[in-house]
Amino acid sequence: MNNFEQYINDYLDRQRPCLITDAMKYALEGGKRFRPRIIFSIVKGMGFDESAAYDAALALELIQTYSLIHDDLPAMDNDDMRRGKPSLHKAFREDIAILTGDELLTDAFRVVSESNVYDPEVKVNIINALSKYAGSDGMIYGQLLDVTSDSTNIDKEKLVEIQDNKTGGLFKISCLIPMYIRKEDNEEYYIRLGSLIGQIFQNQDDLFDLIKTEAEMGKNRSDVKNNKGTALSVYSMEELKDLIDRQFNELDDMLKEADFDTVYLLELLKALRER
Ligand code: IPE
Ligand code: IPE
Ligand code: MG
Ligand code: MG
Ligand code: MG
Repeated sequence: MNNFEQYINDYLDRQRPCLITDAMKYALEGGKRFRPRIIFSIVKGMGFDESAAYDAALALELIQTYSLIHDDLPAMDNDDMRRGKPSLHKAFREDIAILTGDELLTDAFRVVSESNVYDPEVKVNIINALSKYAGSDGMIYGQLLDVTSDSTNIDKEKLVEIQDNKTGGLFKISCLIPMYIRKEDNEEYYIRLGSLIGQIFQNQDDLFDLIKTEAEMGKNRSDVKNNKGTALSVYSMEELKDLIDRQFNELDDMLKEADFDTVYLLELLKALRER
């Protein structure tokens, strides 16, 4: 187990023993931790040890996990499988899944505010980014656009707006956290970086619904079944593969302007490109 996984387990061990804690353990297990890994690769490129970002990365992973629990609920995507296991409302109950999501979200702010690592200004900046880009300027707004779209009322422009918010939101947070830890101000660049990584990630996720098995993905292809508006509603499979390639090239160009050593991030993005 790597150090960050151990950090997550230590956090869980500190929680009150109760059904929600059991559900949090279940739900947190098996995630790829891609958003934390983005944070660590930028932080390392800035010359810090990745542990400097553990509290912020834990908070973000709690929010990521909550977003998936609620995304899977019967009223949302109605998915029975997540992270290679029955989704939380199947393994526990729907009421417990709602409460567990609520707790993961709420606790994220506590993890940052109680951190021993950041000074008050850094804490406020991280908490602000979490609430802004996981909320009305990001993930929740994107999920609203997502649930009110279907394969017939989506176009390329709306697809970008959905992706920039529902997926880009949390990736913007991943890119902003290192900037706050370093105490610099280059917000426009890091937001653009997060948005582009988010769009690529969601384009791949939609593509995988078509080309990977449910066992490989560890989840169901519910968006296809529910006739949701996805990248495949506006692009053919070949067009989508081309778009993803072009977006990776755009990302390479963007990273040439970075004000940190990109070696670690490029390594992670190579794995993303090859996944
Ligand atoms: C799933 O994210 C939600 C999307 C934005 C497609 P991940 O594919 O990162 O899921 P986990 O965290 O590894 O389970
Ligand atoms: C992203 O969209 C989910 C969130 C922003 C929470 P999806 O609905 O495509 O994610 P998966 O495929 O269920 O992981
Ligand atoms: Mg969804
Ligand atoms: Mg879903
Ligand atoms: Mg999906």
